[in-house]
Amino acid sequence: MGIPQQGQSPVDIAGALADIRRQDPPIHGGRVLAYVYDAGVAESMSAGLAALGAFAEVNALDPTTFPSVARIENDLVGWGLDLMQAPAGAAGVLTSGGTESCILAVLAARERWRRAGGVGTPVILLADTAHPAFHKAAHLLGVDVRTVPVDRSTFRLTDDAVAEALEASGDRAALVVASAPSYAHGVVDDVTGIAATCATRGIPCHVDACIGGFTLAYARLGGETVLPCDFAVDGVTSIGMDLHKYGFSPKGASLLLFRDTDLRSGTYYAFSEWPGYPVVNTTLQSTKSAGPMAAAWAVAHALGHQGFIDAVRRAREATRRIALTVESIPGIQVVASPDSTLIAIAGEGDDSIDPFRLADAMRRRGWILQPQPSLSDLPRTLHLTVQPVSLDSIDSFEADLRSACDEVRGLPWIDASTDLEAAFAALPDLTSGGPLPEEMAGVHALIDALPPEIRDPALSAIFAGLFTARRD
Ligand SMILES: Cc1ncc(COP(=O)(O)O)c(C=O)c1O
Repeated sequence: MGIPQQGQSPVDIAGALADIRRQDPPIHGGRVLAYVYDAGVAESMSAGLAALGAFAEVNALDPTTFPSVARIENDLVGWGLDLMQAPAGAAGVLTSGGTESCILAVLAARERWRRAGGVGTPVILLADTAHPAFHKAAHLLGVDVRTVPVDRSTFRLTDDAVAEALEASGDRAALVVASAPSYAHGVVDDVTGIAATCATRGIPCHVDACIGGFTLAYARLGGETVLPCDFAVDGVTSIGMDLHKYGFSPKGASLLLFRDTDLRSGTYYAFSEWPGYPVVNTTLQSTKSAGPMAAAWAVAHALGHQGFIDAVRRAREATRRIALTVESIPGIQVVASPDSTLIAIAGEGDDSIDPFRLADAMRRRGWILQPQPSLSDLPRTLHLTVQPVSLDSIDSFEADLRSACDEVRGLPWIDASTDLEAAFAALPDLTSGGPLPEEMAGVHALIDALPPEIRDPALSAIFAGLFTARRD
């Protein structure tokens, strides 16, 4: 499988790549309910892909050489600021994705904290449902994390819990993060209360709307009532919202918005004390492709506001229907009523269904739902990222969900905790790149059972086993 001595023809290359790609599940059509976001509008995706190719080699490192980069970024940031009801003076930056937006939000807050005279190690306050990107940010940026449990009946982070954690953090508190919504449970934290609590203490409040920013804004513009989570809420100082999620653009684009340019300045990095070109970076990357930003611009123009309103309406309608169906099936329930377009399914009642077994039963029917392990008293669940196209196949999805539940109802939950060694032994050797088993419930149950200090290295080891290229 190495690189050929002589170059191959474009036709041969396209064929070979298509063969490689055949291992993957379909990106379009709504069969995969995580990782992908299909608006179901062929014209917008083809406009995005054409722009991706046309701008792939434009280097967004330098908007003075490539003015198109500033033009496109300004248009996209301006759009995000409008959607998030930003006040005059607000600004933003275009990043490569949700994780980069989270990291830069933490960096901006850390820099403001330092400029304000903060000494020692700053701390950021996160719900226990906050996306791991913030833990990664803290890890990379030398910041401590104080984890705050969400309310166990609503699964939301509350202002009371934040106030208590801020009290305990004292002068080290540099940032509070709220989610809109949380990925794991699909609920919006109490942004209004949390931001007010932050504002009275002068602490920045970041809203992670990476996955919900576009859906909640366009649901509001479509006339629905949504929970407040944007700059109209006093005390919200920054917001992340991903173009490559419900902005329906190809991967590699997110917006990070700030209430003021002073906060944004913390994400910029300039260095000229070397004999080469003066480096100015607005994000973590330096050389970067303008392809994803041009693609997002093209998708936005292909859909228009009305296209987004319609797409979000369809995704929300599908979400409501699936949630109702889940509630009507014995043995499963939604963890919380969905605030946007994400659903978490848990087992319920006497005949409680194991979500991991259900994932396998759905996979046999051609649907990919995402298993989420338990965390202390938070149960194992299945995650669904519902998309506009989900409405097209809603009847067959619901029928398959019912029959999958019938298939696995009454089966014991797969529990690896009673005999971890046996559970390990029963699995193929994942850490040496062996093929993943057809039935994944055992793997997920094992991950579920491992204590976090073993779980995380084990997960890394599984990935290391997948990336096997090395010199002998
Ligand atoms: C709420 C939230 N924040 C951050 C991220 C990280 O985004 P990305 O995978 O684009 O880095 C995600 C991803 O799903 C998310 O849902």
